[in-house]
Amino acid sequence: QGAAKDGYKHFMLKEIMEQPKVLRDCLVGRLQDDRVCLPELDGLPVPGSIRIIACGTSYNAGLWSQYYLEQFAEIPVIVEIASEFRYRKPILKADELIVVISQSGETADTLGALRLCKEKGYPVVGICNVLGSSVAREASACLYTQAGPEISVASTKAMLSQMVLLLLLALYYGQRKNADCSHAKKLRAGILNELKALPEILEGALPVMRDKAKKFAYQYAYAKSFFYLGRGTAYSLALEGALKLKELSYIHAEGYATGEIKHGPIALIDPDFPTFALAFDDDNFNKVCSGILEIKSRQGNVIALLQEGTELENNDLWYIPQTKLPEFLALPAMQLFSYEMADYLGKDVDQPRNLAKSVTVE
Ligand code: AGP
Repeated sequence: QGAAKDGYKHFMLKEIMEQPKVLRDCLVGRLQDDRVCLPELDGLPVPGSIRIIACGTSYNAGLWSQYYLEQFAEIPVIVEIASEFRYRKPILKADELIVVISQSGETADTLGALRLCKEKGYPVVGICNVLGSSVAREASACLYTQAGPEISVASTKAMLSQMVLLLLLALYYGQRKNADCSHAKKLRAGILNELKALPEILEGALPVMRDKAKKFAYQYAYAKSFFYLGRGTAYSLALEGALKLKELSYIHAEGYATGEIKHGPIALIDPDFPTFALAFDDDNFNKVCSGILEIKSRQGNVIALLQEGTELENNDLWYIPQTKLPEFLALPAMQLFSYEMADYLGKDVDQPRNLAKSVTVE
């Protein structure tokens, strides 16, 4: 066990720190100049709409990708929780593509959804980390994430790798749909350059992030509840941040869309109910900041995660480097925060209570 952890105290920490390599590995063989190669999908038609189905962290990755699929592929996307999808009477469109996401490839509900869609005659693309798993074998086509074995029950690097594949999927369909539009081509090339730069940026940022995570974990270890807020591409990350905190440290946490808090949840805010807010340097920045100020004016404490070059009046600021894909840095930052919190509180980081790595029962 000691050797497998490569000197790290826990598998989770090792897996968080491996993420620059995961980013690199996920891109191997996938890029040719400014083109994305997903030959696994070349034989399938460009879908009219996409339905993404998954559970837990994999669901959060799917929800995140909706923004990029709509932006770059201009394909409408629905994202569903597998256990809900299976027991409805879903109405699928004729030209719909089903995408199931599963790290393990063995999650019972996700597998059940895959089988249901296949029975109905729909092509199902699996995004999966485990070679030869049930999802990989049964899907019409499988895009393997290159995260390597994930031992810690809490999923970290697998989500990052799913996000890379999903972004590539968005760019790939954008390519197939808008091959000749020079404006769209330029936009795709721009985001690909941001993606290619990420491994190095993350590598440099991780040690600094770890120090910051430790400091904030100690400072906020008093909390019995936490809000995680995000808007746009940060919304699904807020859900993931909250999931990580609760499963590892057993602190109650809720992820919310920043714009929704004034519709009820803000009633909970007081000095003992802190918020972890994601304020990326994008079109939503000013709106997110005004949400944060509303919380502060009700005496709520806030950890605000910002990108370098932006400003906000707040005591606890957590700066991450500038990039057009801040989600790939914010995710490890939040993972480290939950890790440090759980370790500080003496919880079983790699094997949280009541949880299994893959949920093979319904
Ligand atoms: C996340 O930390 C959890 N371990 C859990 O939510 C997990 O993502 C979920 O059970 C789905 O697993 P899968 O990706 O293997 O299908």
